[in-house]
Amino acid sequence: MKTRILFICLGNICRSPAADGIMRHLVNERGLEDEFLIDSAGIGSWHVGQLPDRRMRQCGARHGYTFDHRARQFSSKDFERFDLIAVMDQENYHDVARQAHGEADMKKIIRMSDYLRHHPGQQTVPDPYYGTERDFEFALELLEDACEGLLDYLKTPSRPSRMPRTSL
Ligand code: 4NP
Repeated sequence: MKTRILFICLGNICRSPAADGIMRHLVNERGLEDEFLIDSAGIGSWHVGQLPDRRMRQCGARHGYTFDHRARQFSSKDFERFDLIAVMDQENYHDVARQAHGEADMKKIIRMSDYLRHHPGQQTVPDPYYGTERDFEFALELLEDACEGLLDYLKTPSRPSRMPRTSL
């Protein structure tokens, strides 16, 4: 059985398609393609069908990634299709939690910031959309850190059955 991970952000054109692309890259690099299914979606519908924001694609290309996801909107059905719903910030958390049907769904929601190992105290992956190139670089740097942290956590043989929730 594959572990199915869905990355969520507000528009699905900056942070979550980047997380999706970075995690696919890591999974391929480690030869784990048979163990993981990865996707991303947005809370809003404004950008459905679009490629990631050009600034995020350029930022990704500078770091060796190809971000080519087509934006789609999150739906409550995604709780049935995925094992983990990984959100970027508190607003995403509440927007996803509002569509959960019970405790089993709630347990699937995780925060990317809880898997950061090199950014102590960082509680969110901030939205770079209205920011500068530096904000896109920072979001990418956080997502690389968090994706590595999450993948290592999921591959730990004796990991606790519950996901860590350090920032709840
Ligand atoms: P994302 O960034 O949530 O990281 O994809 C955003 C993209 C678009 C908008 C907001 C955030 N928007 O308002 O259109």
